[in-house]
Amino acid sequence: MTEFEVLERDGLARIGRLGTPHGPIETPALLPVVHPDPTRQPVAPEEFRRRLGLGAVITSSYITWRTPPLRAVAESQGIHGLIGFSGPVMTDSGAFQQHAYGSVEVGPEEILEFQEAIGSDIATILDVFTEPETPHDLAEAALHTTLERAVAGRAARKGLLAVPVQGGQHADLRAASAREASRLGDVLAVGGVVPLLEQYRFVELARQLAAARPELTPAAPVHLFGAGHPMTFAFAALFGVDLIDSSAYQKFARRGRLLLPEGTVALEEVTEATCHCFLCADMPLRLVARLPPDERERRLAFHNLLTSAEEMALVRQAIRDGTLWELAERRTVAHPSLRAGLEEARRHPEIFLPTEPESRRAFREVDPSSRGRPAVVRFQHRLEAYSAPHPPARRLGRIGLRPEYLRHIPLEDRAGRELRWEMVTPLGPVPIELIDQYPVGPYLGVDEFLDPPRHRPPRALQEEVAAALGDAADLDRDWTEPWTRFQIHALLEWQYGAAIAIALAPGLRGERSRRTGRLRSISLGPTPMFVVGTDGVPHPTFRGAERLHELLSPEERRIVVHADAVPFVRAGRTLFSRFVVRADPRLVPGTTALLVDPSGVLIAIGRLLLAPHEMGRLARGVAVRVTAHRSRPIPDDDDRGEDEEPGEGRPVPGDL
Ligand code: GUN
Ligand code: ZN
Repeated sequence: MTEFEVLERDGLARIGRLGTPHGPIETPALLPVVHPDPTRQPVAPEEFRRRLGLGAVITSSYITWRTPPLRAVAESQGIHGLIGFSGPVMTDSGAFQQHAYGSVEVGPEEILEFQEAIGSDIATILDVFTEPETPHDLAEAALHTTLERAVAGRAARKGLLAVPVQGGQHADLRAASAREASRLGDVLAVGGVVPLLEQYRFVELARQLAAARPELTPAAPVHLFGAGHPMTFAFAALFGVDLIDSSAYQKFARRGRLLLPEGTVALEEVTEATCHCFLCADMPLRLVARLPPDERERRLAFHNLLTSAEEMALVRQAIRDGTLWELAERRTVAHPSLRAGLEEARRHPEIFLPTEPESRRAFREVDPSSRGRPAVVRFQHRLEAYSAPHPPARRLGRIGLRPEYLRHIPLEDRAGRELRWEMVTPLGPVPIELIDQYPVGPYLGVDEFLDPPRHRPPRALQEEVAAALGDAADLDRDWTEPWTRFQIHALLEWQYGAAIAIALAPGLRGERSRRTGRLRSISLGPTPMFVVGTDGVPHPTFRGAERLHELLSPEERRIVVHADAVPFVRAGRTLFSRFVVRADPRLVPGTTALLVDPSGVLIAIGRLLLAPHEMGRLARGVAVRVTAHRSRPIPDDDDRGEDEEPGEGRPVPGDL
């Protein structure tokens, strides 16, 4: 069973941990390609680990096998002994040599047995490399062979097995291949894409990833074969790629090329001291360019790998910060083809929406295309559903939701008819009551500076309102309280629908922040029912959840906890993935869900780390972080938050 655990996430991208016999791999990870012949390897792999923190590598079992002296060492000392590395080693099978040279001399059983014999941590079956140009019938036949070998390989292999996803440019084949790989593999390795990467065909790459993505199980890490240029890392991570192998650091070094996340540069053109890394401190790039070829290649390869390791660390940091879309958009400066690839990715929102979080801390526009991120797509969908049943809104210039403004904006005309108001935002017109909602609330784009929302004198606002309403305006009344009641209703409607809002709202009162005017909490009498986050989302307290539990339909917002985990969850412990029996498929990461026991009794509430379709499928790790439980809320600093997962041997729920 794959030991893969998700620790953090941003959309499809995740910070994970993959267990291997030589220790865990922290993902997303860059696995440098190591030549099995130590004399042909420009930088010793232990150096990667010691100086760059790169803890795992990939090497070719095929080159080892077909080179007798290497093979002899590997057979006696293992692959780790041969390449001089004590961390996790993944081995590839020779399929790539088939692409490069047209054929390989080894059989699929033999190369897999060989990988087993030399102690590979992750072995790869001998797949059939399918070119992007291969027509459907041939690609299908090749895929058939790959799948037969995957089935046989799974039966033969005890340890971790990588099963490549082939199918060329054919979406149906990519999907079928991804489905079978998910059934058989511990690592799902998207292959056949090197020509796309080498020729900057990122639109096709995005299409192929999009075709495979829905069929790739979330329970296993996804590898992308050959995406070694650092400009592609954020792009790949966006599709949930967890592992990338890189031979680019060597290949580009051989041609005197410096790899940067913003593109590729010829070493001899670097005349300024643009880098002050520890390698450049030892010898600046300008001098490296003048070294004899071997030495130059060695130093440049090390530098390229350092840049790549740094970029992968930035990707991981962006996942933790919830800023991966931003990073990916920023990286498209490397080449318009990459921008086009991201454009193509945005054309497949259905791939991203199930794991798209409820909100993020910030939304920073990189360029106008940022307005096509999945977060915006979801917001627009929900906005359509929200606005449809209501009377059309009148438009106002931008204001903050401060009481000093709201008091002047009537919610009814003199005849008692309901009035609605909207503001123009960078994401289009948005009802005023929803203006704090993610992503429009934290949205920071150029408009903010070109056309700043003015702090307007109330007088000017009154005039604007009067102009919009004419005689119907009732400007004498103070509308602050009605606005708060209206906004509470609106937020509940936005989250739970109109019927629930109508049932919940009576008697609720809201408290606004003095500084920002933002609605902060919603109470019933003295009892807090919802805490409104800076993302505008009303997260229920346990009392609020009890009310929702009474009102919502039986499945809605619910996660059913396996009986074995009920005592732990009821006491405020984390809910682990394998104890999830069922989850409302409409939930998304970051939402607060109602955790119920198998008989439907509410035992706790918590925020989703995993999307519902991922729960129960991941054998390890957290599904929901419990925020409050039956007796009392868990304080943030309570170290029981760092729960140990209960030991193996607990039954896995049978009805998943
Ligand atoms: N290396 C680069 N592409 C591939 C591929 O499609 N399959 C395998 N096994 N290795 C690769
Ligand atoms: Zn440097």
